[in-house]
Amino acid sequence: MAFYEANYEFIRLKEVYKGNPEWDKAFVLFHCLSMRDRYTAEHSIEVGYYAAKIAEQLELDVNRFFLAGLLHDIGKINMDDNPLKSDNILSEKERKQLKRHVLSGVMTLTELGFGKDIVQFCLRHHERMDGSGYPFGVKEEHISIEGRIAQVADVFSTLTNFRSYRSKHKIYTYEEAIELMRKDAITLGIFDLRVISILEGIIDNKKIGLPDRNSRYA
Ligand SMILES: [Fe+2]
Ligand SMILES: [Fe+2]
Repeated sequence: MAFYEANYEFIRLKEVYKGNPEWDKAFVLFHCLSMRDRYTAEHSIEVGYYAAKIAEQLELDVNRFFLAGLLHDIGKINMDDNPLKSDNILSEKERKQLKRHVLSGVMTLTELGFGKDIVQFCLRHHERMDGSGYPFGVKEEHISIEGRIAQVADVFSTLTNFRSYRSKHKIYTYEEAIELMRKDAITLGIFDLRVISILEGIIDNKKIGLPDRNSRYA
């Protein structure tokens, strides 16, 4: 199961980067996030893991992508329990608050001096290639490779995650999630198709298919 592999990689990186100032800051922040909301923390480990796997295929700096994934939802740390831990349909006000987690995270990461790549990953993870995302609704020409990978890794983890106590949503298998995202990439143009294809190749190679849950891509 991917989460266990992802968590193993997280523990390994904690040892490797112990004493590195940027990683030490990240581990402290992440520890706070995991105390605040275990589900978001586990999801973030998965996002880092998937992002690193995709980055590896593109010959990018794998560990930077893992780090970025760990911190991409850090802006949720100061969000109210509702919407953070809600499994109900969100009100307009709650939806607005949920969306604020992106810029809240960007401010935290910038303030603490994290690299541009880590900030970009966070900033763009809810944008979409056709301009339908948030917080700014920018289109593909403004979405860096960090953002493109972040979008795919984030949604894939959200669709396929089964550990949440918020489990009344539909759970997707890896194959179902990839198929859905590929369709969305082709028909709606919301994801980078090349990134989807890379993730598909990773899943195919590993032959992992596990049940998961559907969420609101938040
Ligand atoms: Fe998010
Ligand atoms: Fe996320």
